Amino acid sequence: MIKPYYRSSDHAFNLVCGDTFELLPQFDFKFDMIFADPPYFLSNGGISVQSGQIVCVDKGAWDKGVSSEEINGFNLKWLSLCREKLKDKGTIWISGTYHNIFSVANALTELDYKILNVITWVKTNPPPNISCRYFTYSTEFVIWARKSKKVPHYYNYEMMKHINGGKQMTDVWRLPAIAPWEKTCTKHPTQKPLGLLSRIILASTEQGAWILDPFAGSSTTGIAANLLGRRFLGIEREEEFAAISKARREEIENLHTFLTYRKKISDIVKADEAQTELSVCCCEGDNVESLPFLSE
Ligand SMILES: C[S@@+](CC[C@H](N)C(=O)[O-])C[C@H]1O[C@@H](n2cnc3c(N)ncnc32)[C@H](O)[C@@H]1O
Repeated sequence: MIKPYYRSSDHAFNLVCGDTFELLPQFDFKFDMIFADPPYFLSNGGISVQSGQIVCVDKGAWDKGVSSEEINGFNLKWLSLCREKLKDKGTIWISGTYHNIFSVANALTELDYKILNVITWVKTNPPPNISCRYFTYSTEFVIWARKSKKVPHYYNYEMMKHINGGKQMTDVWRLPAIAPWEKTCTKHPTQKPLGLLSRIILASTEQGAWILDPFAGSSTTGIAANLLGRRFLGIEREEEFAAISKARREEIENLHTFLTYRKKISDIVKADEAQTELSVCCCEGDNVESLPFLSE
């Protein structure tokens, strides 16, 4: 049995603190969807702009640059472990920049996943490029793939079309970078915005789905999942970040905060239908199934 670092009282939010490579193989459970924001390996002493200040790019030891062979080996290994924990009709989303995304795509192909889309997330408020020698970096990529070449996956086509003003949703998503209201429990250095995760979750899962994030960080995936009535297991190696996750989940125990955040994310993803979905939430008194491998 694995001891959770934190579990919400309704058992819809589960967080384990430790190394994904050691913990994932121990889980006897299959998930409907996986979102992963793995290390991009870009903390190489470069400079960037944060809140108007010039800063050295140093997100932590976990993000330090290593050789391309090591990056490829890392991606192959965790994507192989995730494939075993995905339901046959399940899908996986992986975010990245040019530093790691080509390696991720190669590993997916090698492991026989079927790549469905490569989403280009255009940040509507990117930081300036201070060197003035390159174009401003204003995009990230999110690869969407399914486990099996043959078994069909779930896609909420109608909702995505509705969000996009009645036209088919394209693979270019214009969404803001993280906003101040999302940083109330102190910020993880690479925290993803709830709006991005909400669109991903609404597009690819149904109410009550189980979602895994093997590199949870501050658990943006888990917060978005619970705000949208889905269930979550996160794995995070650094206790400092696991503590941020716990604080974020405890924050939405307050009904006013919960409703405020739900309103904010539905405004960002612009989904009236999501509002309807949001009103049916498994976090309130529903009979939530527990993860069998976690001790009480
Ligand atoms: C890019 S961040 C994820 C940020 C997250 N999406 C969020 O919104 O907060 C990647 C995270 O993976 C964690 N990590 C790196 N290697 C890990 C491993 N082997 N096992 C578990 N966590 C790991 C890092 O500590 C870091 O918090």
